[in-house]
Amino acid sequence: MTESYKINLDETDLPQAWYNIQPDLPKPLPPYLHPATRQPLGPKDLSAIFPMALIEQEMTQERWIAIPDEVRNIYRLWRPTPLRRARRLEAALNTPARIYYKDESVSPAGSHKPNTAVAQAYYNKAAGIRRLATETGAGQWGSALALACNFFGLECTVYMVKVSYYQKPYRRSLMQIWGAAVYPSPTELTNAGRQILAKDPETSGSLGIAISEAVEDAATHEDTNYSLGSVLNHVLLHQTVVGLEAKKQLALAGEEPDILIGCVGGGSNFAGFVFPFVPDKLKGKERRFIGVEPTACPTLTRGAYAYDFGDTAGLTPLILMHTLGHSFVPPGIHAGGLRYHGDAPLLSLLVHEKIIEARAYAQNPVFDAARLFARTEGIVPAPETAHAIKAAVDEAGRCRETGEEKCVVFNYSGHGHFDLAAYDAYLEGKLEDMEHSDEVLRQALRELPQIHGR
Ligand SMILES: Cc1ncc(COP(=O)(O)O)c(C=O)c1O
Repeated sequence: MTESYKINLDETDLPQAWYNIQPDLPKPLPPYLHPATRQPLGPKDLSAIFPMALIEQEMTQERWIAIPDEVRNIYRLWRPTPLRRARRLEAALNTPARIYYKDESVSPAGSHKPNTAVAQAYYNKAAGIRRLATETGAGQWGSALALACNFFGLECTVYMVKVSYYQKPYRRSLMQIWGAAVYPSPTELTNAGRQILAKDPETSGSLGIAISEAVEDAATHEDTNYSLGSVLNHVLLHQTVVGLEAKKQLALAGEEPDILIGCVGGGSNFAGFVFPFVPDKLKGKERRFIGVEPTACPTLTRGAYAYDFGDTAGLTPLILMHTLGHSFVPPGIHAGGLRYHGDAPLLSLLVHEKIIEARAYAQNPVFDAARLFARTEGIVPAPETAHAIKAAVDEAGRCRETGEEKCVVFNYSGHGHFDLAAYDAYLEGKLEDMEHSDEVLRQALRELPQIHGR
């Protein structure tokens, strides 16, 4: 076992191909359904808003998809990312566990999100598209896409969830520096936005609403496509560079990971990190995978596994996933990137099959773990990432009690340098811990679409 603090790979070790988990699933992924006809979708149905290359990646059963050189060359600006051993955190916890984290915060946008943004911008540019429209919660995804569009000479329009737009003004500045146009969602620019504002002018917005706006923008403009930062299969596929690198790095460190942890919003950083390790478990190796979400938006732990829309207005295909119902508007917690009513269908299936575990934490204990991490390891984590840290701290604490020397690895999905207002609120004791009553959750689930025979 290495004594290092960080395990680095050479640029030449950057993966040549993304890993597609679809052929290795215990059962096939059920199809997406058309929002109007409720019949299974074909590639043509998606072609109004996505380029064909990404639609093929969404549906393919090929296990390995070659990463184009143009994409790898941009990845090389920050990849391979370090795998760090959290020795000072281990010491503070007085645990026999060995804790590692894969540091995705070193990308120019500060998170894992550019891994798919660069790929999506590349395929859209190659298809002759002029502009991409998207939503963003915390602003991490919007800034990643703004960066990627800038590299490929595409215009970028970002619908930013209203509560985050005001909580995180500097994320907006970052997107504008990279050339994007940014609007607080809901806006008056789309039918979906106008309808929601008419019902609730004071709404704080949600990812579901912002997605409706971006999809409508793309569907009504010939030269514009839509780009999603999470949930869809091709997004998770692109994120597997994270897990593929981590696997090599753990092997270099002489480690077999016992527990792999990530936070879950739509599921992309968690899936990208753990999916390359899932076949090991299916072949009988001891591996635990833990997805961590906020109690304020408990999709995996308390949602239904059902067909639902990906957005609030019901414009997207119906997806079989863990969902709180597309009308559920999560409270304005500071982990804006985890405020999504649904989850990736691939991740949902693996949770449903009990291959992946899920747990939820409230904001204050999550920020306690974030502060401990900042004081030991030095970096201030994004509030989303802090959910993974909290679970790693808890697992390491359990090892202290049992004396087990487990290897705990988590994905450090992003830094929190633009989230200091959230830390201010935490330090001033102003963060509320949210736990929904069963009745609140039941109410949104009543609006799930009825799908006969499924
Ligand atoms: C730093 C960070 N981590 C995690 C997430 C959650 O997204 P996902 O579950 O797709 O990784 C976000 C989303 O914005 C984020 O910004």
